[in-house]
Amino acid sequence: MTTDSKLNIRILRNAHYGGAALPEFLSEAEVCHIRRFHETAADYQATPLIKLKALSSQLGVRAIYIKDESKRFGLNAFKSLGGLYAVTRIICQKLNLDIRQVTFDDLQAPEIKERIRHMVFITATDGNHGRGVAWAASRYGCRSYIYMTKGTAQSRVDAVYAAGAEEVIVTEVSYDETVKLAAKRAEENGWTLVQDTAWEGYEEIPAWITQGYTTMGAEILEQLRLEGVQKPTHLFLQAGVGSFAGGILGYYACRFAGNPPITAIVEPTNVACILESALAGDGKPHGVSGLQETIMAGLNCGEPCLTTWSILRDWSSFFTSCPDYVSAKGMRTLANPLGDDPKIISGESGAVGLGLLTLLMERSELAVMRTQMGLDENSVVLLISTEGDTDPAGYREVVYDGKCPMPR
Ligand SMILES: Cc1ncc(COP(=O)(O)O)c(C=O)c1O
Repeated sequence: MTTDSKLNIRILRNAHYGGAALPEFLSEAEVCHIRRFHETAADYQATPLIKLKALSSQLGVRAIYIKDESKRFGLNAFKSLGGLYAVTRIICQKLNLDIRQVTFDDLQAPEIKERIRHMVFITATDGNHGRGVAWAASRYGCRSYIYMTKGTAQSRVDAVYAAGAEEVIVTEVSYDETVKLAAKRAEENGWTLVQDTAWEGYEEIPAWITQGYTTMGAEILEQLRLEGVQKPTHLFLQAGVGSFAGGILGYYACRFAGNPPITAIVEPTNVACILESALAGDGKPHGVSGLQETIMAGLNCGEPCLTTWSILRDWSSFFTSCPDYVSAKGMRTLANPLGDDPKIISGESGAVGLGLLTLLMERSELAVMRTQMGLDENSVVLLISTEGDTDPAGYREVVYDGKCPMPR
């Protein structure tokens, strides 16, 4: 592993890359069906894929493309793709409907709504996933209960209520402990837990959520093809539990027949459970315990998702961890574009990949890491800004007031 002591960035090359079976639940055929369903949803629109021309010249790479998920369903983050798809599958399972045929409008029919109006969905979240589940449940006329982690910004609680939640419960514990509380309440009440992370015995619904994220991956490939790009050379994917990263990387591993782009998983320093699992070297997922502090609320998760851990273990090229200032630098860079590049509002969990890319290309201390990763003037880099300013006050603290400055 390479660690820079001043910048405190860790990068681990994956010694166990490739050679594994491809994750069939993320195959091109599956992804086509998932996207077909999403396209039937009212308000569905592909989110923009933005080319940052001036920034790529400044950094010395051939191209930088960044997907702007702040535009997803008006919810300011990508997570609703998974929540909507999973809630729909649960409803289809209950009503014995074929998810491959059903449309969003089919499920709006009064006789269907009557049959599902007693269904109750529950989840734990640091914000975005809960908002997506509350939104999906309310669109089908169902109730949802959303558990949120200690210290959650009030604006995120308000956003979950605005999305249609019946009740929001802010706990006194970490994300991982909050998941346990929600699971217990689901069991006690016979409600359906729609959790975006899997563990032994709870894997089907998280896999549906992961599948839901692939619509984003499919949109990107289509958008890149319009630019004449068949495959990016590099991909930066941020991870909390790893469900998002596993969904995109697993799909690309299938789509490119076992040869996905060079992929770096990016996590916050104190809660880098994917990196720590890779470091343990026994092939198993390992958790990071305790309540940790990071501005990257969406990535503040200590236990890897069981379903996607093996995808990340087998198909990631690098595992990395970054302090908060890396994300802050990414947010400020995207908010203050160079030349004719458009401005992108990217939140704390959305911008860390771009922050890491800029540092890798700019800082002489990271030259060895840059070379290891093969980042140079031929690189076509893909990033996903997974959220906008989901905590507007926190966003302004970073972008206006300079919170989390670069180390001197
Ligand atoms: C904005 C944002 N980006 C990335 C992630 C990471 O997703 P995952 O927990 O599946 O790794 C999250 C998770 O909540 C998030 O909210």
